[in-house]
Amino acid sequence: TFYGLIAAALAETAYLTYSVYKETNPGLQKPQSLLKENGNKKKNIVILGSGWGAISFLHKLDTTQYNVTIVSPRNYFLFTPLLPSVPTSTVGSNSICDPVRTIARQTPGEVIYYEAAATDVDPVNQTVKIVHKNMNFAHGEAFVNKDDPIEKTLNYDYLIYAVGAKVNTFGIPGIPEYASFLKEAQDATAVRQKLFNAIEASRLLPEDSEDRKRLLTFVVCGGGPTGVELAAEVKDYIDQDLLKFIPGIDKEMKVVLVEALPNILNMFHPKLIEYTKEVFKTQHVDLRTNTMVKKVDAKNVYASAKKPDGTTEEVVIPYGTLVWAGGNAQRELTRSLADKITEQKTARRGLLVDEYMKLDGDDHIYALGDCTFTANAPTAQVAHQQGEFLADHFNKLAKIDDLQYVISLEKDQASKEKHLKRLERYKNSLKPFSYRHQGALAYVGSERAVADLTWGSWSTVALGGSLTFFFWRTAYVSMILGVRSKLLVISDWIKVSLFGRDCSKD
Ligand code: FAD
Ligand code: NAI
Repeated sequence: TFYGLIAAALAETAYLTYSVYKETNPGLQKPQSLLKENGNKKKNIVILGSGWGAISFLHKLDTTQYNVTIVSPRNYFLFTPLLPSVPTSTVGSNSICDPVRTIARQTPGEVIYYEAAATDVDPVNQTVKIVHKNMNFAHGEAFVNKDDPIEKTLNYDYLIYAVGAKVNTFGIPGIPEYASFLKEAQDATAVRQKLFNAIEASRLLPEDSEDRKRLLTFVVCGGGPTGVELAAEVKDYIDQDLLKFIPGIDKEMKVVLVEALPNILNMFHPKLIEYTKEVFKTQHVDLRTNTMVKKVDAKNVYASAKKPDGTTEEVVIPYGTLVWAGGNAQRELTRSLADKITEQKTARRGLLVDEYMKLDGDDHIYALGDCTFTANAPTAQVAHQQGEFLADHFNKLAKIDDLQYVISLEKDQASKEKHLKRLERYKNSLKPFSYRHQGALAYVGSERAVADLTWGSWSTVALGGSLTFFFWRTAYVSMILGVRSKLLVISDWIKVSLFGRDCSKD
């Protein structure tokens, strides 16, 4: 056993060293070209986005078979499952960002990256207009700064549309002005800065001041997994670390989680919902379910709370820091694309696609992830599987296209028939997408996580507790794409366990 362990450790070290070398020393890539070696036209693929769907697609695509261009205003892939850990510095924001250029350099064929946002898709002429501007993600749209734009138009044979979604504010007054989101890395930094502004400002006020109490109230609206994980992380931060630097803050500071529905984490097993509520109760997270936010101003959240007898009462929740985690809405670009295609006219909640992720009503656009409306939830797991499926599909389409080209040139009837049989086999190998749900995990605070795990189609296992927390960490590390990010996240966790989370404002 001892020698076995040594051998395993050596093998793991060798694998890590090789992976680090590969990531930092990308080899030569086959350059882009008009024609393939066999004389067939090399088709242009334009990928929009650098999130779960787009990057999973790029990762698996045989980039020697297409001229690939990837366009995204965000020049990195963001590992969103660990984003709620960033405002508290449990994990550094750089640790969960993998540069698109690093990823694009590791594919076998040359990939062009443009840091830009698509502003218009023309499905008739198969073009995308892209614009580079100075960017700011603070409010969910791709960018808001309109200064100095540089534009370009790209032609595509195939468009891989994976622009994700924006945060849904439901038109609630005050949210865009006063609340932060938790969607992008910059949002996490903004939340941290607001939290510290509020804490430091409160120090100037007398202890019995109402304004001091308000500043020391961290309010999260939306009890989906984003809101729950953020509330849990902030409460941990206060109780485990901040109190060491600011004695007594754990008694004064409040974390409030507001949810319109009777329960939080509605997609999880009821046992896990109860478990999370129990953890929140013991940790003194102020959970306000059945409370629908109606309006927000610079200091207060105004909500309507349903009482057990069915009546409602208006409540005012003063806040120092406010985060809105109300779920997803479609981006303007997605709405405008849907408006251009007759079959997409009913696509209110996302683009409609067939079982190959091809857009209904268009043969050259494929869409995946949060910008689509399918039977599956808008999760990283779904977007990742769709991306890998689509890459495999396109690898097969390239073979079919080459064979069709060979057949079109073939003069000999016998050879032609042999090719046609092969073509039939290739076409039969195109299988529709089928999602394999592997379960859901969420961190609920004080080193506990909940897990809804699915083994096969028949069994679901609901787990909560410290062991699940260990599993949560292991599972997330294994899901991180780059070796660099894996190592950074592990070292962040080690750093926090040795020195605690730091309390600088950034
Ligand atoms: P995204 O990953 O959002 O990527 C969209 C990309 O498109 C981005 O790169 C964006 O910059 C780019 N883009 C935007 N506009 C344009 C434009 N006009 N032109 C070109 N590009 C554009 N899911 C899980 O399964 N497990 C989890 O633990 C989990 N945790 C999460 C935690 C948080 C805090 C959040 C916010 C989400 C979490 N999710 C999780 C959900 C998951 O992140 C999403 O479902 C997933 O990111 C969807 O992938 P996507 O590729 O569709 O979109
Ligand atoms: P969500 O849509 O899951 O939750 C939003 C919550 O906000 C809902 O519970 C909704 O009832 C509530 N809400 C909406 N309007 C409200 C109002 N006016 N007042 C009070 N509450 C209101 O959104 P979330 O959490 O951002 O997740 C988005 C997607 O990402 C989901 O598919 C989720 O499964 C996935 N995700 C998964 C994670 C995980 O598996 N650990 C972590 C984070 C996100």
